[in-house]
Amino acid sequence: MPSRSGQVFENRNPADREDLIGYFQESSVADAEAAIAAARRAYLQWRLVPAPKRAEILFKAAALIVERKEQFAHDMTREMGKVLEETRGDVQEAIDMTFFMAGEGRRQYGQTVPSELRDKFAMSLRQPLGVCSMITPWNFPMAIPSWKIMPALVCGNTVVFKPATLTPLSAFNFIKVLEDAGLPKGVVNLVTGGPDVGTLMSTHDEVKVVSFTGSTQVGRLVSQNAAPWFKKCHLEMGGKNIIMIMDDARLDLAVEGCLWGGFGTTGQRCTAASRIAVHEKVYDRFVEQFTRRAGALRVGNGLDRETQMGPVVSESQLNTVMKYVEIGKQEGATLLTGGHRLESGSCAKGFFHEPTVFGDVDPGMRIAQEEIFGPVVSVMRCRSLEEAIDIGNGVAYGLSASIYTADINNAFTAMRDVYTGIFYVNAPTIGAEVHLPFGGTKATGNGHREAGTAALDVFSEWKSIYVDFSGKLQRAQIDT
Ligand code: UN1
Repeated sequence: MPSRSGQVFENRNPADREDLIGYFQESSVADAEAAIAAARRAYLQWRLVPAPKRAEILFKAAALIVERKEQFAHDMTREMGKVLEETRGDVQEAIDMTFFMAGEGRRQYGQTVPSELRDKFAMSLRQPLGVCSMITPWNFPMAIPSWKIMPALVCGNTVVFKPATLTPLSAFNFIKVLEDAGLPKGVVNLVTGGPDVGTLMSTHDEVKVVSFTGSTQVGRLVSQNAAPWFKKCHLEMGGKNIIMIMDDARLDLAVEGCLWGGFGTTGQRCTAASRIAVHEKVYDRFVEQFTRRAGALRVGNGLDRETQMGPVVSESQLNTVMKYVEIGKQEGATLLTGGHRLESGSCAKGFFHEPTVFGDVDPGMRIAQEEIFGPVVSVMRCRSLEEAIDIGNGVAYGLSASIYTADINNAFTAMRDVYTGIFYVNAPTIGAEVHLPFGGTKATGNGHREAGTAALDVFSEWKSIYVDFSGKLQRAQIDT
């Protein structure tokens, strides 16, 4: 539906600024008001549809995404740049989540417990909350919306969904699937727009849940907006994830993991491995191999089969990357490879940056503390597992971490002592699967998790029900 204001915005390919993908309606605050009202109306019916029936629509939707996977991946690469293999993975993650949450239509288990009184029945069940606002980023344009929308729907809520302005086509593709699968009108409502729309979505009286994935800075604003109204607020924010490499690690495996964790999605994952702590005994060997391999990555248009790393998503993101490269140099880190924008040949028309590795990084430096969200990796030296864990924990964020080691004692110590929401052994910091909780500690989140059955806790509330069939007044804790 067009915006009431008639406004539109352009969507262009970050790998080729001459490639115009299209114009998309730019929602105004009035559009967002209408979307919330539509979601509220739809809620009155949707909450009463039996959950297994709601789930049937999700099963259909998942099957449709399977059919359209290749086209969706292609559209996604074109609008946000990551390589085709990865956009296929993004779409696959949406498929997995949709099937998984459809399964929850027949579960959403509550508890039935014995009552302490005679002839009294006690149970708990999940109830929906109402209209849920969802504000999602551009780096996983289909996966992340699916993490929020699918659990919300299966629990019986309705949705107002605002995707990042950089990825409206993937959002449209996703919503079209839901429509084609038979989702009733008004149950999911797509809006676009900037902070004014976001503010309405996090303050409006009819909105009961606000689920946001994005920067810690914006997450704080969302949280402040929602707090006075006691809305349930789920935040998934920044990361500064570490890979720890011990002296007994298989270095070839660690190098592969660091390349994938550091430069996959051009480093633009909240789970990206932007820090690596390497035991001093293997530091030189690791750095030599990692730097060589990072420098050899083929950068280009994500639609080309040969490309291993696509562009950065936008000019402002590219400027951030370049700013941090300068900061790293000024801080005295050693630039081991990369460090420049790529502007010639096939990279001439887009926002490309070299895979960049800094060595001799001090854990306190800004490049080792702040989320860059680009292809810049900081390598640090450590003398022991304990020191690696201290470095790992020594940042504001706590999303994901990993260790490469052959020693099971190291692995279990790190599993216990690294304070993050996700941890990997002998694998990089990226690669979470949809059926386990996803989220982080400290400035990464506010205690909630998405994915897995944990997501149901965000989009439902517990109701405890007592049925007294004794025919008389029974007083809990008093009558024995
Ligand atoms: C993100 O980084 O924003 O674990 C999401 C992963 C993906 C999801 C990443 N499955 O890296």
